Amino acid sequence: MVYLMESPAWLDKTYAALLEEKIARFMTEAKMISSPRDLASSRFLSRSVLPHVERLTGSFNRKESSQDGGIKPYWGTGSNSANLRMSYFLYYMPSNMARMTGVWHELWRLGYKWRGGEELRAVDFGSGPATAAIAIATAEANGSSIDLPRDGSWALIERDGKMLDIGSAWATTDAHSFPWTIKTFRREINATGPLLPRGAPKFNLWTMCYMLDESDAPVRDIARALADAWERHLDDEGLCVIVEPALKLQSRKLLSLRAELLKLEKPWLKVLLPCLGHQDCGALADRDGEDWCHEEISWWRPPYMAKLDTLAGLDHKSLPFSYLVIAKSARTLTDILPELGGDSSGETIRLVSPVHFPTSNNPDAEFFSCSARGKLRCRLKCDRETCRELGRGAIIKNALLRGDANCTRVETGDG
Ligand SMILES: C[S@@+](CC[C@H](N)C(=O)[O-])C[C@H]1O[C@@H](n2cnc3c(N)ncnc32)[C@H](O)[C@@H]1O
Repeated sequence: MVYLMESPAWLDKTYAALLEEKIARFMTEAKMISSPRDLASSRFLSRSVLPHVERLTGSFNRKESSQDGGIKPYWGTGSNSANLRMSYFLYYMPSNMARMTGVWHELWRLGYKWRGGEELRAVDFGSGPATAAIAIATAEANGSSIDLPRDGSWALIERDGKMLDIGSAWATTDAHSFPWTIKTFRREINATGPLLPRGAPKFNLWTMCYMLDESDAPVRDIARALADAWERHLDDEGLCVIVEPALKLQSRKLLSLRAELLKLEKPWLKVLLPCLGHQDCGALADRDGEDWCHEEISWWRPPYMAKLDTLAGLDHKSLPFSYLVIAKSARTLTDILPELGGDSSGETIRLVSPVHFPTSNNPDAEFFSCSARGKLRCRLKCDRETCRELGRGAIIKNALLRGDANCTRVETGDG
């Protein structure tokens, strides 16, 4: 049985147009732009936005060799800093929102149901313009709901006060029907801990979206800091969602973080996604250090973003990213994600590469997958129906595996 990692169907053309309308209205009211018409103006986009998008892209996509080095604080205080924030808001916030909704949708499709308590107590680290909080509110309102309680609050933690102001105003504008209250905390987060002050309360939802990669702290120290903080400040059955860039070194850093967390052997720490178990990471096993793992979702961009993509020579039609979802829970994976349960006569594997589809010369679909026994180079004879379901991120349940890691024949048990 194949389960495609699907983009939320509601991230469609209607959503994109509506998001553009909401952004334009909010930015006009907040005096970030002079009128909603600015977003349709190539002159405005190329003069006031593009240079900042190019600058931010340069630091976010920093050269592979220096990716480990973190990023210095970049919001600044000069006259250009307002336009820098405005450009982030226009170009990066919507795509990170879509990525976070993709992760939420994945929890939803695997049957995750909230058990973290009747009141939401969420915290977002490096919140920028409240991207994660709004993404989750949007997913909850649009059919990817895991039944989060509508009572509760978000704590937004961010080093930049102006970004916090934008985030708090954007979340609470009536554009989103955001059900929770917002508290903002202007703070420098020390990624090697303690991540929260000792007297801070317990939370039941943690998010970190494109934040950890900005730290140059050693991954082992970050893992310790996170585990210590979750021990003290995360409720039982609480959830932590980390979304990071898809670039090789940053993605490998997230895989190493998972490995370091598992080494701590905390009985309450459960990796839920994307890996379907606590096995050693197949990508990290690559001796040359060239392998990594990422996800990708497709969406409809707001029309002004398509224009900016053209002007910047970039392409945000589909959105790659890396992610990790951790639960503080003693329950089994299939209890937490019931769609993974059921008939257990085979194994459950996840596709971690694009698929080479059958051709007239080769009747097999070929792909790499991750399984309890590591990373496998797989072949699957499939009919047109099954092939349609295959793609990066797809899960095959009840798979019968024969052969070794270099050539594994997969049979789906569905014929
Ligand atoms: C790339 S932005 C992501 C913002 C938001 N999470 C999103 O996905 O749109 C990273 C944010 O994290 C903040 N940040 C990074 N490191 C931080 C730290 N050590 N303490 C506080 N804020 C930090 C930055 O100021 C920035 O606003």
